[in-house]
Amino acid sequence: MRIALLPGDGIGPEVAAAAARVLRELPLDLELEEHLFGGAAIDETGEPLPAETLAAVRGADAVLMGAVGDPRFEGAEVRPEQGLLRLRSELDVYANLRPARGDGVDLLVVRELVGGLYFGARGVREDGTVFDTMEYRPEQVERIARRGFELAQARRGQVASVDKANVLDTSRLWRDVVERIAPDYPDVELRHLLVDNCAMQLVLAPAQFDVILTENTFGDILSDVAAGVTGGLGLAASASLGDGRPGIFEPVHGSAPDIAGGGIANPAAMLRSAALMLAHGLGEPALATKLAAAVDSALAAAPTPDLGGTATTSEFVEAVLRVLGR
Ligand code: NAD
Ligand code: IPM
Ligand code: MN
Repeated sequence: MRIALLPGDGIGPEVAAAAARVLRELPLDLELEEHLFGGAAIDETGEPLPAETLAAVRGADAVLMGAVGDPRFEGAEVRPEQGLLRLRSELDVYANLRPARGDGVDLLVVRELVGGLYFGARGVREDGTVFDTMEYRPEQVERIARRGFELAQARRGQVASVDKANVLDTSRLWRDVVERIAPDYPDVELRHLLVDNCAMQLVLAPAQFDVILTENTFGDILSDVAAGVTGGLGLAASASLGDGRPGIFEPVHGSAPDIAGGGIANPAAMLRSAALMLAHGLGEPALATKLAAAVDSALAAAPTPDLGGTATTSEFVEAVLRVLGR
């Protein structure tokens, strides 16, 4: 199995190193190859996603990404985040799965990842007006909606489709498409929520949700809320999947410039993303379960400062390796 490891920026390389240490100890024939990505790649090559990295990623079985983003590039023409958006788009990983668990909560945000506001026409007019546009084609909505229903069938059979259909035409399309395909999944119970209410419900009563199905921007925001009510960004993992290989496995968090370099980043989100990679990317569900359980034990034994503990990133990794018997 060939894994393209993209450490990126800030705490990205710290959690990527943690994941590499753990993955190398697993009984699995893995080739981990690091590639330049994000701000680190801009520094070396002028671009956040160099051609060499894109080629390597295309030849890999899975992509494991740390995080990108650096305050040095704020307001710059070329930014690390552009590399991440291009990577997602090039691999057409339209389904971003972001699970959140804890305290009676077990939900899955299914976020459309390669459309909407992030990829619509944008620009500046002569009068200084700046615009971003949200566009969705029916097929784009249909494929993510089907994925959401299928995932719900393997869970508790409930889909909350989240939109802003009281205001946006793209949301009315979203709702129409979701309604049209819903009869194909008679074992799934569907309801529609407006995004503002969903945000409030997530804070107030998160246990009510099974699958939250939503478009790109709403999913970005709601998945941080879901992370926030289940222990924070240090824990939140994600899998970005298309219809074939490779998928991208990436924590929900960013480069955390406020703690970067301190050796105290919580690697749990990255390790859980590695577990998602084993399950969804490499066909190793048993190893995935084992790794996820080891991370859960380490969270109890050696919590990092974001969770009120004192463990460093490497102490957390040691705790994981101890549970794995390495
Ligand atoms: P962030 O997720 O980097 O950090 C938000 C807060 O959560 C910070 O206080 C940070 O210290 C904390 N945090 C995040 N991950 C943590 C971890 N593993 N352990 C402990 N604490 C953790 O979000 P931000 O500060 O808004 O963004 C910083 C940069 O990251 C920006 O450049 C942004 O564009 C980028 N970003 C990248 C990704 C990605 O690569 N997928 C995701 C989000 C943000
Ligand atoms: C995430 C991040 C990215 C997004 C940024 C860095 C482009 O916030 O993965 O959630 O908005 O998708
Ligand atoms: Mn985000």
